[in-house]
Amino acid sequence: MVLLDGKETSKKIQEELKEKVDQLKKEGKKIPHLAAIIVGDNGASLTYVNAKVKACEKVGFESTLIKLSESTTEEQLMKRVKSMNENPDIDGYIVQLPLPKHINETKITMAIDPAKDVDGFHPENVGRMALGMPCFLPATPAGIMELLKRYEVPTEGKHCVVIGRSHIVGSPMAMLMWRNELPGNATVTITHSRTQNLKELCLQADIIVAALGKAEFLTAEMVKEGAAIIDVGITRVEDTSKKSGYRLLGDVKFDEVAAKASFITPVPGGVGPMTIASLMINTLKAIEMKELI
Ligand code: GUN
Repeated sequence: MVLLDGKETSKKIQEELKEKVDQLKKEGKKIPHLAAIIVGDNGASLTYVNAKVKACEKVGFESTLIKLSESTTEEQLMKRVKSMNENPDIDGYIVQLPLPKHINETKITMAIDPAKDVDGFHPENVGRMALGMPCFLPATPAGIMELLKRYEVPTEGKHCVVIGRSHIVGSPMAMLMWRNELPGNATVTITHSRTQNLKELCLQADIIVAALGKAEFLTAEMVKEGAAIIDVGITRVEDTSKKSGYRLLGDVKFDEVAAKASFITPVPGGVGPMTIASLMINTLKAIEMKELI
């Protein structure tokens, strides 16, 4: 079994990006600037956003973090989005999801300039991805593809079962796996909460991407010997023995599934750090995307 080490791979990617930034500095060119907007005080979201901003600092990008209160109105957030679109110094930005219930996420996502949409959530980027045109790929699926590429996990002609159909992970993941590219060229089955024969489908899978958000859902009896397992889950469970008061569990029952797997991502230290690395890659790309989108 090979552990797909996202932490180590992300570190390597960030070193590569740092070299590129140093080169840009030497040439007197613009340094990529990523901004993040977060609304409210969701602990997990704050942790993710802080990790993104910290990663920017590490690779030498400029970064701006805008924290808005839970009571921010849709109109106020829209104003912030518009000012990000108009600010030539900001190359790319994200609005961390989920947003408070009183704000329409689709409306906000659609207001983001597609050329600055480093999350790849705007319908224009989603459509471009579907058509194989230049675009920002959503960070989590793109990070998984990068991990598959760097560890040379075979995908061509393989059966990939994706569990979960979210706009952020499941749906784009399926699209990237069936693309006529490598990694990719897989035969993909998308499964979700209404799928009736999930266990049978998983048992046929050469690759399983578990992205449903249910702790330790995927067990050994659902996995074929030698399958590659990608765990996108990050559920916080109370653990008083930890300083933070919680520990993270993936969607995969790691120990028993790892005993059958050819490749597997750990949680934490698997897909999470790769999401951050992808966002950094997209931010560097944002400078070129101005001409393409
Ligand atoms: N919430 C969970 N994942 C993401 C992500 O990749 N980007 C944003 N903006 N919000 C998220």
